[in-house]
Amino acid sequence: MPANKINRQLNVINENSSFGYVEAYKALRANIQYLLPDTGRGHVLMVTSSIPGEGKSNVSVNLAYTLAQDGKNVVLVDCDLRKGTLHRYLNIPALTNGLSSMLEEPDIEKIKVLLLQKYGFCFIPCGALPSNPSEIIGSEAMRNVLSHLSYNYDYVICDTAPVNAVADTSILSRFVDGVVLVVSQNDVNRNTVLLAKETLENANANVLGVVLNKYDVKQTGTDNSNYYSYYNYNYYGGYGGYGEDQNKQ
Ligand SMILES: Nc1ncnc2c1ncn2[C@@H]1O[C@H](COP(=O)(O)OP(=O)(O)OP(=O)(O)O)[C@@H](O)[C@H]1O
Ligand SMILES: [Mg+2]
Repeated sequence: MPANKINRQLNVINENSSFGYVEAYKALRANIQYLLPDTGRGHVLMVTSSIPGEGKSNVSVNLAYTLAQDGKNVVLVDCDLRKGTLHRYLNIPALTNGLSSMLEEPDIEKIKVLLLQKYGFCFIPCGALPSNPSEIIGSEAMRNVLSHLSYNYDYVICDTAPVNAVADTSILSRFVDGVVLVVSQNDVNRNTVLLAKETLENANANVLGVVLNKYDVKQTGTDNSNYYSYYNYNYYGGYGGYGEDQNKQ
């Protein structure tokens, strides 16, 4: 198994999660709710990052979970047609039936989603990885599927491939209402993030904001001992809660 896959893990919010971790996701949920206007249908959101491994899939799952906890009807879609990993993270056997096959389904009403009772949201795995992901992601069928889902769910959360690595994500950004850009504190520099932001904006994406991930409280010197610094910690999406007691990757 390649080294970069050995330590990969999904950390879904649970009863043992730190207060800061849970609260940061609640702040993210609230900010998203404030930023997206009521359109009479559900909101389609995309979670992405500049480069691989910044935490897109973890953020997607936790955002879906946190919205579901608020009583929202949520579907999480694995739109990473290069190397979708969500089904593995969510312990669902590899399915040929997934987004890629749905895009070939002429009857949109036949689209099937999995209900993840444990987490309270629905899920569409990536399905068999196609040979032409950019074309598939940018297809009219993809736009129709997302539009269809937006009339059946309050939130459609799309986990994606990294913006600076492949064209798929900026192409997909044209079909969504808002983009959340995950920035891993130590994995990227300013120029890399700016390139991703510029690429998304060139595609006319609505970049809602940035989630600062793998945030190291100790490294930044942010001290939680007073209210003001604690507020900042949450405000900037610094949900490295488990990073305090687990290995940062
Ligand atoms: N806040 C965090 N603190 C510590 N580790 C984290 C954090 N967020 C994600 N990780 C770890 O980073 C690794 C990559 O996370 P994840 O798979 O969510 O990234 P990704 O951006 O979806 O990657 P890819 O681009 O390969 O799809 C995982 O092992 C995950 O556990
Ligand atoms: Mg991922």
